[in-house]
Order: sequence, then C-alpha cells, then structure tokens
Amino acid sequence: MYLRVMQILDGVLVSAHIKEQIKHEVNEWQTNGGKKPHLAAILVGNNPASEAYVGSKVKHCEELGFDSTLLRFEKDITESFLISEVERLNNDDTIDGILVQLPLPGHISGDSVINAISPGKDVDGFHPISLGKMLLGQPTFLPATPYGIMLMLEYYKIDTAGMHCVIIGRSNIVGTPMTILMSRASNPGNATVTMCHSKTKNLKEITLTADIIIAAIGRPKYVTADMVKPGAIIIDVGINRIDDPTKKSGSRLVGDVDFDNVAPLCSYITPVPKGVGLMTICGLMKNTLLAAKQAKELIG
Ligand code: GUN
Repeated sequence: MYLRVMQILDGVLVSAHIKEQIKHEVNEWQTNGGKKPHLAAILVGNNPASEAYVGSKVKHCEELGFDSTLLRFEKDITESFLISEVERLNNDDTIDGILVQLPLPGHISGDSVINAISPGKDVDGFHPISLGKMLLGQPTFLPATPYGIMLMLEYYKIDTAGMHCVIIGRSNIVGTPMTILMSRASNPGNATVTMCHSKTKNLKEITLTADIIIAAIGRPKYVTADMVKPGAIIIDVGINRIDDPTKKSGSRLVGDVDFDNVAPLCSYITPVPKGVGLMTICGLMKNTLLAAKQAKELIG
C-alpha cells in the first residue's frame, strides 16, 4: 500500500532561516558603511488585529537590527492629514520604507493613501507602480504576503511548473498578485492558474482539480476536505479569530482551511498560526532592506 506523507510547511522554521539571512546581510551592509534600514509604520485607529500585526512588524525590526518608527493616529483623522504625513515620510531621508496598515477607516480612501507613498519606499508593494512592475516582471517590491509564499515554496524546493494552482480570493493584497507570481516564467511559478472568487460557480469542481490551493478569502475553515484532491498542496493565508470557550482568552486563530480534516489528504500544508503570517513579515523585511540599499544608490 502507498502511504502518503503529509508535510507541514513550517513558517517558524522558514522565517527563522530567512531572518538569519537578513541579519547577516544587514551586518554586512553596516560593516560596509550602510545605515540601519528604517521602517515607518502607520496605524490608524485601534483595530485589535491591526495592532497585533503592526506590533509584530515593529518587534521584528528590532530583532533584525532595523530602526522603526510607529506613527499612531486616531480613527477620525482626515484623509488629507494622513496623506500629508505620508508625504512627510517620503521626504524624510532617514526613512527607507513606509507601510500603512490596512484596512483604513471607511472615510479614508486606501487607494489615495497608498498612491501617495513614494514608490521607492513602498515596502508593502501596494503602489500602482510596484504592482505594474510586478505584472511586467520588472524588479520591484513584491507585495509582502505573496512574496512570503514564494519564499516558502522556494525553501521547500516545491517544483510548481505545470501544476494547476487555484487561488481563492481576488484582493489587491494577496489573490490578484498571487495569480501573476504563480503564472510567471520562474520557479516557483510556471503554474496554470485559476482565480476563484465570490461569484465563481462550481468552486468545488474547480478546487478538486487543483494541485495547489491558495486560500485567501478571510472566512474561517472555508476550504473543506471534500474540496481537496488527495496529494494537493495547501497554502492557507487566512487569519480568522473564532470563539473557543476551551481557551483562556475565549477565542483562537484559524485559517481559511479546515486544517484538521484537510491536512491528512495533502502532500504539504501551511498551519495557522505559524504559517504564512510569519512569511509576510519576511517579505516586508526583505523589501525594507532592499529599499535601504536602493536609497543609498539613489542618494549616495
Ligand atoms: N492588512 C492585511 N495585510 C496587510 C499587509 O500585508 N500590509 C498592510 N499594510 N496591511 C495589511
């Protein structure tokens, strides 16, 4: 009998490896006269998830030898004030990378704020120039989560060429850029990509033909075992908090995939937590280091 062995794609292991590489590169950079990379993070309001994400990004800056500045604003600030703050950071030569934590309050246009970030400091890779360059395969900052997923597939040497990759979710942050990266002529990449979203018909029929499923829908345990072909690779981007009276906090984090029932079927799967979330941070930190190096080239 053939026994399939499922392997966890371990965000703790891979992110530790990449963080060591970054630390080494920062050291080398500073030894050669470069200054510490400096990330500015903007947090508007006090959404608990956003607080946690930004807190983790700032903590990682410290761990990797980067400087960081956290700018916090009340949720009722105006769009024009926020844009003027972004412009101030654009013009501050001590800042290498700017990230504006999303989502923003409803009265502020995320597009307008992102468009105000100088493309040379767009370490989240959300600016139209960054996304346009990515689409064309030109060197640029890749959006942090898709970048992190590519780093993970690369680490495990998963050859995705010719695979059918089904991406569920069409956000600007994850689903849409992921379709570009997985289909381009690279390794990982070279996949045949299908993008699914809330209006997709026969979702299950499609996912059952997937060699890789990338779930980025933001709905707890949405991808169930009956949607998954045995041997498939599962990348779970979801971070959803659900009630759990057995926990002291009364809740716990789950992904967009029903991990307990799907995992036994797969060849590889990312857990939540300790999966893709940690890789997003690696993508952001690699972009920030790149921004610092490019700034030196530009400014001298
Ligand atoms: N909100 C959810 N994911 C992200 C991310 O990667 N970057 C920012 N800035 N906001 C987010």
